Amino acid sequence: MRRQSVPDNFLMAEAVTLLCFSLLFFCSHALVSPGSSNSTIDELALLAFKSMLSSPSNGLLASWNTSSHYCSWPGVVCSRRQPERVVSLLMGSFNLSGRISPSLGNLSFVKKLDLHGNRFVGQIPPELGQLRRLQVLNLSTNTLHGSIPAAMGGWTNLTTLDLSNNLLQGEIPNEVGTLKNLVDLRLHKNDLSGKIPLSLTDSLSIEYLSLRDNRLSGEIPVALVNLTSLRHLDLANNLLSGAIPSALGRLSSLSVFNLGYNNLTGLIPTSLWNISSLTAFAVQQNMLSGAIPSFAFSALPHLQTIAMDDNEFHGYIPTSLANASDVSFFQLSYNRFSGIVPLEVGRLRKLNWLQISNNLLQAKEPEDWELVSALKNCSRLKLLDLGANKFKGLLPDSLSNLSNSLTFLSISVNEISGSIPEDIGNLINLQYLDLSNNYFTGTLPSSLSRLKSLQSFSVYSNKFNGLIPVTIGNLTKMNYLDFDSNTFSGRIPSTLGNMTNLLALGLSDNNFAGRIPIEISTSKHSLVS
Ligand SMILES: *[C@@H]1O[C@H](CO)[C@@H](O)[C@H](O)[C@H]1NC(C)=O
Ligand SMILES: *[C@@H]1O[C@H](CO)[C@@H](O)[C@H](O)[C@H]1NC(C)=O
Ligand SMILES: *[C@@H]1O[C@H](CO)[C@@H](O)[C@H](O)[C@H]1NC(C)=O
Ligand SMILES: *[C@@H]1O[C@H](CO)[C@@H](O)[C@H](O)[C@H]1NC(C)=O
Ligand SMILES: *[C@@H]1O[C@H](CO)[C@@H](O)[C@H](O)[C@H]1NC(C)=O
Ligand SMILES: *[C@@H]1O[C@H](CO)[C@@H](O)[C@H](O)[C@H]1NC(C)=O
Ligand SMILES: *[C@@H]1O[C@H](CO)[C@@H](O)[C@H](O)[C@H]1NC(C)=O
Ligand SMILES: *[C@@H]1O[C@H](CO)[C@@H](O)[C@H](O)[C@H]1NC(C)=O
Ligand SMILES: *[C@@H]1O[C@H](CO)[C@@H](O)[C@H](O)[C@H]1NC(C)=O
Ligand SMILES: *[C@@H]1O[C@H](CO)[C@@H](O)[C@H](O)[C@H]1NC(C)=O
Ligand SMILES: *[C@@H]1O[C@H](CO)[C@@H](O)[C@H](O)[C@H]1NC(C)=O
Ligand SMILES: *[C@@H]1O[C@H](CO)[C@@H](O)[C@H](O)[C@H]1NC(C)=O
Repeated sequence: MRRQSVPDNFLMAEAVTLLCFSLLFFCSHALVSPGSSNSTIDELALLAFKSMLSSPSNGLLASWNTSSHYCSWPGVVCSRRQPERVVSLLMGSFNLSGRISPSLGNLSFVKKLDLHGNRFVGQIPPELGQLRRLQVLNLSTNTLHGSIPAAMGGWTNLTTLDLSNNLLQGEIPNEVGTLKNLVDLRLHKNDLSGKIPLSLTDSLSIEYLSLRDNRLSGEIPVALVNLTSLRHLDLANNLLSGAIPSALGRLSSLSVFNLGYNNLTGLIPTSLWNISSLTAFAVQQNMLSGAIPSFAFSALPHLQTIAMDDNEFHGYIPTSLANASDVSFFQLSYNRFSGIVPLEVGRLRKLNWLQISNNLLQAKEPEDWELVSALKNCSRLKLLDLGANKFKGLLPDSLSNLSNSLTFLSISVNEISGSIPEDIGNLINLQYLDLSNNYFTGTLPSSLSRLKSLQSFSVYSNKFNGLIPVTIGNLTKMNYLDFDSNTFSGRIPSTLGNMTNLLALGLSDNNFAGRIPIEISTSKHSLVS
């Protein structure tokens, strides 16, 4: 059985070549006739490709003319062993626009076809399915429409398929895979408009598959499980729905698993926690639910990225997190996780990003707040976002012992009381500090003036009192400053006028005396409330 139809004229050309070996006499005659030699086929295919571009003679394509051999044209790479045959067409970011010519299907020696980052429109021509030697296909970042062609069953040596960031639509159906199915689907192509199959399981060598940033719909095909070499699976930012197939847990070489920004429902299959080669696990912005088992991260020693935000997960944050000791990015915001944050988080020495805002996480007793001391060993921590949870009680002084690398700290929208640590100014690289919507009291510590990198500072809606420190005017990078809804008193310091980058300043709903100093009201771009 043939996997896909090779064009008859191509077979003819091969036949003529074969004939040449046996019948030298006819040979020279046969080769001069147009359309019969290898070089003519490839050259014609390239010229046909060029002719379908909207400005075929602009830019780099200007030198695609007969004054030089096509093997020297920009983007064209010919074989060493078959000197006339094109093996790579590398035209990423060549500023090309127009349609992709079906003639590329005639470049039968091509292994690498890279047209990423251009402005191609229209469909992916099914003729590309004839490229049996294809190993790398990158059509990412164009504006291709239509479905993924069924004809990819012939790409048995394909290792990399990147169709990301286009406007591709249609389903990735479940029942693809066998050759028989492929033939059937091709026969019924007209009945299946919008549901063109991705015959992935014939591309068994595939290691890199990215279809991200398209409009693919339907469910994730179970058939993906046959791609046993797969290391990189990225289906993010489509319209995929249904559950994550449990069988995907058998993809034991998987390193990147990204299904984020879809419409997936159901639980995370337990089998996924067995893929010990995982480095990135991303399912954010779906409608996934359920609790994450406490052992979830115990067998994932290479995991670096965990992105599960914007779903409907509940239950505790798994303590097995400590076993995933390479984790640097941990993002669980916008779920319904509850309980206290496990102190094990502090064992993640490479932790850079900890975002667990908008959950039902809590701290009540001082021992619940040991999290903050536990994090002091995370010397690379850059972002800590505990906002919009149920943290209560007093903020421990150990907050000021957090890593110097911290640039973002939010504990807003909680029920935290007491004063803020006197030495908060130790966090000298902070750019963003949000303490808004809590029950803080007391005065603002003067150490704040050490936060020279601060660009955004909000204490909105608390019960702070006393004077605004005059030295705060030294923080000249500030562009957002919000003191609204507190009980600050005294004069508004004129040094605020030194913040020349300020875009918004909130002073309302306090007990200030006197007027807004002229320095502030005349400073450029300020929005004073
Ligand atoms: C055409 O390609 C075949 C391989 O398919 C090769 O054996 C033959 O030498 C090539 N002919 C020419 C004229 O380059
Ligand atoms: C053909 O390509 C050469 C470079 O190979 C270039 O110098 C020449 O200007 C091109 N001719 C036309 C008509 O564009
Ligand atoms: C890209 O091509 C368009 C025409 O297709 C041309 O107007 C534009 O100048 C080109 N841009 C660059 C950076 O070459
Ligand atoms: C492929 O090459 C053959 C022979 O040169 C030609 O007849 C045919 O039109 C080409 N196919 C496409 C899609 O250009
Ligand atoms: C696929 O790769 C194998 C191993 O590199 C090679 O022997 C075979 O010829 C390739 N198949 C095609 C159609 O290029
Ligand atoms: C494909 O091209 C894009 C640029 O659009 C690039 O980011 C990506 O890494 C390429 N894919 C592969 C597998 O090389
Ligand atoms: C995987 O491949 C095998 C053999 O090619 C086939 O029988 C099976 O149906 C495929 N599995 C799926 C889920 O498509
Ligand atoms: C997502 O799924 C829900 C329910 O299954 C459905 O109502 C909604 O239209 C879907 N959204 C998209 C963008 O497909
Ligand atoms: C995980 O792997 C273990 C051992 O390799 C196996 O016994 C278990 O059934 C697997 N669990 C799932 C849910 O696949
Ligand atoms: C996970 O970490 C815990 C606590 O540090 C340890 O007791 C356990 O042996 C670890 N499990 C694995 C599979 O490494
Ligand atoms: C901060 O500003 C005050 C006046 O507002 C000034 O006297 C002081 O030297 C400044 N401190 C630093 C460290 O820049
Ligand atoms: C800061 O503001 C005060 C009062 O408005 C002014 O006297 C001082 O010169 C300013 N300092 C700087 C460094 O601009």
